[in-house]
Formats: sequence, structure tokens, C-alpha cells
Amino acid sequence: MAKPKRRYVCQECGGVSHRWQGQCPDCAEWNTLVEDVPATVFSQKHDLSGGGRAVEFVALDQPGEMPVRQSTGLAEFDRALGGGLVPGSAILMGGDPGIGKSTLLLQAAAAVARGGQSAVYISGEEASGQVRLRAARLGLADAPVRLAAATSVRDILTTLGGIEPPGLLVIDSIQTMYSDTIEGAPGTVSQVRGCAFELIRYAKENGSALVLVGHVTKDGTIAGPRVLEHMVDVVMSFEGERSHQYRILRALKNRFGAVDEIGVFAMAGEGLEEVANPSLLFLSGREEPLAGSAVFPAMEGTRPVLVEIQALIVRLQSGATPRRAVVGWDNGRLAMLLAVLEARCGLNFSAAEVYLNIAGGYRLTDPAADLAVAAALVSALADRPLPDRSIWLGEVSLAGEVRPVAHGGLRLREASKLGFGIAFGPSDMAGAPSELEYRTVGQLAKLVDRVMGT
Ligand code: TYD
Ligand code: MG
Repeated sequence: MAKPKRRYVCQECGGVSHRWQGQCPDCAEWNTLVEDVPATVFSQKHDLSGGGRAVEFVALDQPGEMPVRQSTGLAEFDRALGGGLVPGSAILMGGDPGIGKSTLLLQAAAAVARGGQSAVYISGEEASGQVRLRAARLGLADAPVRLAAATSVRDILTTLGGIEPPGLLVIDSIQTMYSDTIEGAPGTVSQVRGCAFELIRYAKENGSALVLVGHVTKDGTIAGPRVLEHMVDVVMSFEGERSHQYRILRALKNRFGAVDEIGVFAMAGEGLEEVANPSLLFLSGREEPLAGSAVFPAMEGTRPVLVEIQALIVRLQSGATPRRAVVGWDNGRLAMLLAVLEARCGLNFSAAEVYLNIAGGYRLTDPAADLAVAAALVSALADRPLPDRSIWLGEVSLAGEVRPVAHGGLRLREASKLGFGIAFGPSDMAGAPSELEYRTVGQLAKLVDRVMGT
């Protein structure tokens, strides 16, 4: 038999290379390729067109058991899931270590258990004593969660086989799980995939909602959650700056719902608190208007969230290359806006350092933020505050035109409700409330004229 070819598997995305390389050719992560034992490959000529069992076809509208979603007991978690847990589904919960995944899932498991459904929480990272200590601190010690510390998938499945299938099964984390039928240490791509496969199969067969915790890792020593993304029904990411108290739960993939809703939480002394009305969360709350600060009504799913954008411009004396640093927004998008401001409006940023920050640790992805970012930049450059209680919205094209945005009316109504009096945006805007003064900015140059006062 021919010697099996060597292969190297990326621990981040699962991509396969036939020689070792410093950078994964699939996901461009560095130092993530690890040699892997190839699986046996059956001959391609093997005939599969016989000897199988006939599968049954069903009509799309066939009446029968439609899965009923089940609440996690946390409305913000349900919202991010698109309306609750779907029985028999698998959810991957990714996030940086220490962001609060275990806390969130312990709270959800307790709420499910208190609601009368059974919940099983398997911790592979912490001893049960540690989890119980946390539960006590969170005031959840009386919830009838079935808690166990285990890492062997065989032990876990054997145990589950002896009890009524739980409504919610939490595995914290998949990278600590181990299957004795698979070679390799826990956390490698083959172990993570193999263990997830067995657990997902259990969940599908028994109608349990399964949540797999997956740490996001930067080095290649353990497999990242991306290797599992195609195997699960829902991929969620729990995000936030560890130094800030706010956490955002976002669905990146959802076979049962939209991926644009977020759940917002605040990490407090007693665990994660739900933030049902996040619209004012990311504003600094200061009274005096400040140069370089603009407020943007972002959309998160169906909810508007007002976000403060802060820009700082520092003129350089020497000929050193000026820095551009961005927190919470896209670097490339900032470079584009600066280029448009230079090319279309005659401003000069070339000898200045530009810093852009989105307040409160918020990560802005909405393209309608362009005009607000431009307003913050121009205000910082001119060292003049923008009009008091004003909001800015609109996408900016390379030609410097301000383009219409989605859900404009909804954004303006929310801002008006929260006491904002003036809005600046594209000429095409429907549904502006009458209490709000709406001013059209069709061209970026017009913004510059307004702010610079020329
Ligand atoms: P944890 O859920 O262990 O994070 P993960 O499972 O994602 O690694 O949360 C860890 C952090 O949360 C820890 O730094 C402390 C903080 N925390 C609180 O601030 N309040 C609390 O009530 C709890 C339980 C944790
Ligand atoms: Mg944890």
C-alpha cells in the first residue's frame, strides 16, 4: 500500500495543506497548521448505488411535528436566537476567554431548569465546586440544573443515555472534550470535530437543544470554533471589551432565523443583566457638545441604538508618517472616508494623526455611519463642536455623495424620542417625525461648509 501523504490541518479553519506553511492559505491565520493523520479514503470507484435503505420523501407542507421554540429564560438571548431555542438544534457559542460565556449559559441553564424543563451543564474547564460557587454567587444555587464536570464524550453520552433527554444541554467547552475513538489530544481539529459530531447526533436524535462553547484562540495550539461552523445550526458570538461592562450576543449564522438581531447584556456583580432598551447605552451622556464627537443612530436588527463617534486629530510637526488608529470601526472604511474628504472637499489630513473611537466598546458595522464619522472628523479638524443634540446618518460614496439609508424613519423617531432635535442626512428620507428638524446633506462638501462655517 502506498504511504499515506502527509497533510497539515489548520487549527483555526480546518483547511488542509499538503506541506507545512507558516500561514494558512485558506484563512490567512499564522502558525495554525498542524500535521494530521489522514483518514482512510475508500476507492473512488466503490459503487454506492445499491444495498442501501430507501429514504422516505415528505411534502414541504406535510402536517406533523413542527419544532416549538423554547425560551432560554433570558429575553435578550432569545432575541439573538431569533425567538428561542429550537429542540434538536446545535448552537456554537464563540467568544474570547473571560468574556462571560460560562456565566451566560449557567444563567440560561438555571432559567430553563426553573421553568420546568431539564437542563444539563457539563463543565470540562472548571470543577463542579467552582461552578457551584459561581451559581451561589449568582443566586442560582436552588435551580435544579444537572451539573457535572466531565471531559470524556463516552462518559457523557453514557450518562445521558440513562436519563430523560434534557431540554438544554450545555458543553463548556468543546475544546476540552475528548473521545477515545479518535487519535490526538483534546482541542485538536480531529478531536473537536469528532466530539461535536457525537454530541450533535445525540441532540438531533433526542430533541435536546445543544450549546457548545468554543473559545476563540489566536495561536494554533487548540482548534478555534471556525472548524465547527458548518456542523452546527446556529453560530453565535459573545462580544465586548473586557474593560467595559457591555456584552453583545450576535448570531453569525442561524438556520432558523435572521442574523441581524443582537442581545445586549451588562456584566455586573451578580452576573449578566439584560439590557432591554440599549438605545442610550453607547452615549457618553455629557452635557456640553465637544469638537470631534458625532452621534449616529445605528440599527441593530430591528432596534435603533444611538452611538457616539469620537475623532481626534493631532497635527504633526515633523515629517513622520502619521498614524491612523481605529477602535470599533473598519480601518479600510476610515481610509476611504479620509480620501474622499481630501479629494472631494479639499481637506488635508496628510500631516495629521487621526484617531477614531466608538464609545462604550461598541463595534459599528452599519454602512450608514459614514456621514457621522465624516462629521466627527471634520469637527475635530476644525476644532468646532457639531450642533447640540444633533444626529448624523448616511452612506458616503467615492464621489462624495451622501446616499440614502435603510430604516431612516425608525432611526429618526428613536433619536427624537431620546431628545435629539436636529438630524443631518441624505435628501431621500421618508418618515422623519415632525418634532425633529431634518436638514439635507446631499454632498459631503456641504457638511464641510456647515461645520467649517465657510
Ligand atoms: P466567564 O463566564 O467565566 O467567561 P468565559 O466562560 O467566557 O471564559 O466570565 C468571566 C468574567 O466575568 C470574569 O472575569 C469575572 C466576570 N464576572 C463578573 O463580573 N460578575 C459575575 O457575576 C461573574 C460570574 C463573572
Ligand atoms: Mg468559561
